[in-house]
Amino acid sequence: MTKWEELDQNVRTWIMEAGKTIRESFKEELNIKTKSNRNDLVTNMDEATERYFIEKIRGTYKDHNILGEEGFGDELKELSGVTWIIDPIDGTMNFVHQQRNFAISIGVYENQVGVLGYIYDVVHDELYHAYRGSGAYMNDVKLPKLSDVPVEDSVIALNAQWMTTNKRIDPAVLAPLVQKVRGTRSYGSAAIEMAYIAAGRLDAYISMRLAPWDFAAGKILIEEVGGVVTDLEGKELDPLNKSSLFVGKPGLHETIMTDYLKR
Ligand code: IPD
Ligand code: CA
Ligand code: CA
Ligand code: CA
Repeated sequence: MTKWEELDQNVRTWIMEAGKTIRESFKEELNIKTKSNRNDLVTNMDEATERYFIEKIRGTYKDHNILGEEGFGDELKELSGVTWIIDPIDGTMNFVHQQRNFAISIGVYENQVGVLGYIYDVVHDELYHAYRGSGAYMNDVKLPKLSDVPVEDSVIALNAQWMTTNKRIDPAVLAPLVQKVRGTRSYGSAAIEMAYIAAGRLDAYISMRLAPWDFAAGKILIEEVGGVVTDLEGKELDPLNKSSLFVGKPGLHETIMTDYLKR
């Protein structure tokens, strides 16, 4: 077994175990706190799940680095060696309000390059995973390569907040796109939205501000099926910094970029 195959087996075991613990927590009372504002939630389960992964990783891979949303990992200034980028619960608001549509998201990078990506939709028991160069899977089903779709036949994911006055984008830029597409959706979990792109359930996804743990795994998954992952300006993502995100099917990504975003 190669080092990556062994690591893959370990992560899957840990993800399944963490998912089970989260599902079992539904019957218990949650401890909910707010972070940067009253809608930015964190629960005891976000923290416990991140701590669980960190304990497992530290116990097995002493020289690996960890970047976790809840801050129990390392403070990293650069990506060197093997780095785990973890969002213990992506979609905390959904976790709290709906008990569904949230995911565990883990990307494993070697230096700057994403090697393994996992997005586990805990309630639907769907594990999206990819190994760089070997394709992407949903549970045991290999995901087919993505192909172009016309804008007017596409379904894109977008949070309605970007269509109101906000400091990151003029809604007038997005309005013609929203008018042209077949439909828009918003799932409230960037990781699930990226997994859905990889699985062909969505054709593109736009977000104005995400953090490395939101997109680390999704980037690997989408690129493995031939999708395109950039920021809103069409530039490469920086795996250590916050940025906007624009992902989509090949062809469609370019069309939206030139006909709508860069006009
Ligand atoms: C959030 C979700 C949400 C996105 C936010 C993220 P969290 O992550 O991915 O869909 O719109 O920007 O912060 O806080 O639930 O892990
Ligand atoms: Ca959060
Ligand atoms: Ca997140
Ligand atoms: Ca989170």
